[in-house]
Amino acid sequence: MAKSDPATVAIVSQKGGSGKTTLAVHLATRAAQAGHQSCVVDTDPQASAAAWSDWRGDFLPVVVTSPPARLGRTIDNARKQGMDFVVIDTPPHADAAAREAIKAADIVLIPTRLRAFDLAALEPIVDLVALARTPAFVVFNAVPAGAKLLTTEAETVAANLGLTVCPVKLGERAAFHRSSAKGETAAEVDPEGKAAKEVERLWKWLRKQLG
Ligand SMILES: Nc1ncnc2c1ncn2[C@@H]1O[C@H](COP(=O)(O)OP(=O)(O)OP(=O)(O)O)[C@@H](O)[C@H]1O
Ligand SMILES: [Mg+2]
Repeated sequence: MAKSDPATVAIVSQKGGSGKTTLAVHLATRAAQAGHQSCVVDTDPQASAAAWSDWRGDFLPVVVTSPPARLGRTIDNARKQGMDFVVIDTPPHADAAAREAIKAADIVLIPTRLRAFDLAALEPIVDLVALARTPAFVVFNAVPAGAKLLTTEAETVAANLGLTVCPVKLGERAAFHRSSAKGETAAEVDPEGKAAKEVERLWKWLRKQLG
């Protein structure tokens, strides 16, 4: 069972462009489709998830913005409004914001691309998650086709840092890019596509983790 009410997923990574917002809006949308009252809490001053919601218009999920220091209060308000599934999107290069999100979460997802510079950015997260003792998983994102060796090497880097890798990986797929730019999700622009199937697998895995 989730330790908090609502079930709360934090998406953190110190690296810009790793896929935090993409993951946040896809998971919150999938949760809404599953009948959850889900929302994204966007703690990033860039407010990309909020922009995605503006482009989307009057459709679920709800996206609210919150300064990291008010995160607890924002989640509490969400709960009072009946939300049972919250995804926290966080800014890059921001220790304090990541710390607050990790503290508030039942589970932490750390999207990363497979390049060395991206993997190097995993290190500062290790201490943050260890301190909060929140279960955390690295999610390989935008994995190029045929990148078997790269994936194995990245798994080794994560393991050496003591991080667990999520068994579901997201490929480098145009549907993620195209859909987000329109306020949609991969499943909405291409329901039978590989990106949609990966999100589905990730959602099923996440649900299991949350009990
Ligand atoms: N799996 C993927 N395949 C293709 N494009 C992707 C994938 N994941 C993310 N992208 C694209 O990469 C860019 C960065 O993704 P996103 O905004 O989700 O990263 P971020 O970690 O939230 O960035 P920031 O740190 O700036 O907040 C976006 O244009 C997005 O559409
Ligand atoms: Mg973002």
